[in-house]
Amino acid sequence: MQTGSGDLSSAAGNENPAIGLYVHFPYCLQKCAYCDFFSVGLLSSGKQVKGAGSEQLVRFATGLLAELDARAESLSARTIDSVYFGGGTASLMPAEVIARILDAVRTSASLAQEAEITVEGNPENFTGDYLKQLHEIGITRVNVGIQTFNGRHLEAMNRFFNEERYASILEDLSSGPISNFGLDLIYGFPGQSRTEFENDLRRCLEARPAHLSVYSLTAEENTPYYAAVERGVEKAPEEDLQCELFEALPALLRPYGLHHYEVSNFARSGSECRHNLHYWNYEPYIGLGPGAHGFDGRLRYANPRNIAAWEAAPAVAPLAPHEPQNDIPLMMARLCGWISLDQFRDVARSGGLDAVAALKATRRLVQNWNRQGYCELNPDGERFRWRPAGLLDLDSRIAEWSSELTASLAIPASP
Ligand SMILES: C[S@@+](CC[C@H](N)C(=O)[O-])C[C@H]1O[C@@H](n2cnc3c(N)ncnc32)[C@H](O)[C@@H]1O
Ligand code: SF4
Repeated sequence: MQTGSGDLSSAAGNENPAIGLYVHFPYCLQKCAYCDFFSVGLLSSGKQVKGAGSEQLVRFATGLLAELDARAESLSARTIDSVYFGGGTASLMPAEVIARILDAVRTSASLAQEAEITVEGNPENFTGDYLKQLHEIGITRVNVGIQTFNGRHLEAMNRFFNEERYASILEDLSSGPISNFGLDLIYGFPGQSRTEFENDLRRCLEARPAHLSVYSLTAEENTPYYAAVERGVEKAPEEDLQCELFEALPALLRPYGLHHYEVSNFARSGSECRHNLHYWNYEPYIGLGPGAHGFDGRLRYANPRNIAAWEAAPAVAPLAPHEPQNDIPLMMARLCGWISLDQFRDVARSGGLDAVAALKATRRLVQNWNRQGYCELNPDGERFRWRPAGLLDLDSRIAEWSSELTASLAIPASP
C-alpha cells in the first residue's frame, strides 16, 4: 500500500492483499467519563495489573492465544502488514506479554518483515525503560493519548493524571528509541479556551511527532459524561471552539510537516498509520480480544464487550453480512487525500455490489459535490478530494453517498 501524502490508494483489486491485526486490551487504570470504548477501570474495580503474572494479564494472554489459535485458519492464508495493540490501555501490558503474543502471531500467520507494529496507550506507562523494552521486542510505533496537559480538564473527566509523567512524556518519547511516535489530543473540553488548546498543540508540535490525532470531544451516549450533560451538571463540549479549530488545524499543522490525511488525523508524509488505513480503505482485518471487531471483506464479527464471556469462548462471535452501501462511504469518505473512483469501484466489487452501477452513482454524486463546492476533482475527473466545506459537514455527505448507492442499486433501506 502506498501511504504518501497525496495518494492513499489501497490494495483493492489485489487478489490477496496484506491485512491488519488488531489486539484489544480491555483494561485501563481509570475509566474516563467520556469514553465509550470497551474497557474496565482497574482502580475503580479495586483490581490492579502489577506485572506479567497478575491474574488479569494471565487470563487475557491465555484467552488471546486461544482466540489466535481458533482463528488460525483465516490467519494462515494472509500476510499481516500491521499489528495494533489498542484498548483500553494496551501500554499496561508488560513488554514480555506483548512479545509472547507477537511470537504466537508469527507462528499462526505470515508477519511481513516491514510490518508496522503499534502499541497505543497512556503517558503514565511510556517511561524511558518501557520504550526501550518495546523497541527491543520489535515494536515500530507507539501512540500516546495526551488529550491535554491541563490536569483540571482531565480530572474533571475522571482521567488518570500523573503530573510528573505528563511533564516528562514528550522528552521520553523524543529521546527514546522509537522515533515513529504519535500523539492524541482532544479539543473542546468544557471551559477550554482556544489559547489553552493552542498551548497543548504547541507543546506536542515541539516534540516533532510523526503523527498527530486531534479529536473533537463528543458526549457519547452511555457514558457518565453524557449523563452529566443530560442532567445539566456538566457542560456540553465547546462546539464553537470545535468548529473554529477544525477549520484552522490543517493550516496550523502544515508548517510542522503534518498533512491532513483523515478527518482527525495528521501525519508526516510516509508516517500515516498503515493499520488505520486498512479500515479507511475498507480492507479486511482481524480483531482479537473482548470487544474487538473483524472483517473479511464481506462478513463482520464483533467479540463480546464482556471479559468473562470472551474468556469463556474467545472466538465464537457470530458472522454478520456487512452493508457495503453504508459501510464503504462511512470509511472511505473519512480520507482527506485524493479518493480514486477506480479504487472505489474495486472496493464496491469486492464488497459484492454491482460495481458499474455503484461507480455511475458515485461519479454523478461527486460531480454534484464539485458543483456545490464540497470537493474538487482532478483534471480527468477520476479522483476527488474534500474541500473544507465538504469536511465540515461530512456526516451529511456520507448520508448522501449511502442513499445514492442504496437507490441506484435498488437495495432495500436498512430499518
Ligand atoms: C479509546 S482511546 C485508547 C488509548 C488510550 N487509552 C487513551 O486514552 O489515549 C483512543 C482515543 O480515543 C479518544 N476518545 C475516546 N473517547 C472520546 C470522546 N468521547 N471524544 C473524543 N475522543 C475520544 C481518546 O481520547 C484517545 O485519544
Ligand atoms: S484511558 Fe483511554 S481507553 Fe481507557 S477509558 Fe480513558 S480514553 Fe478510554
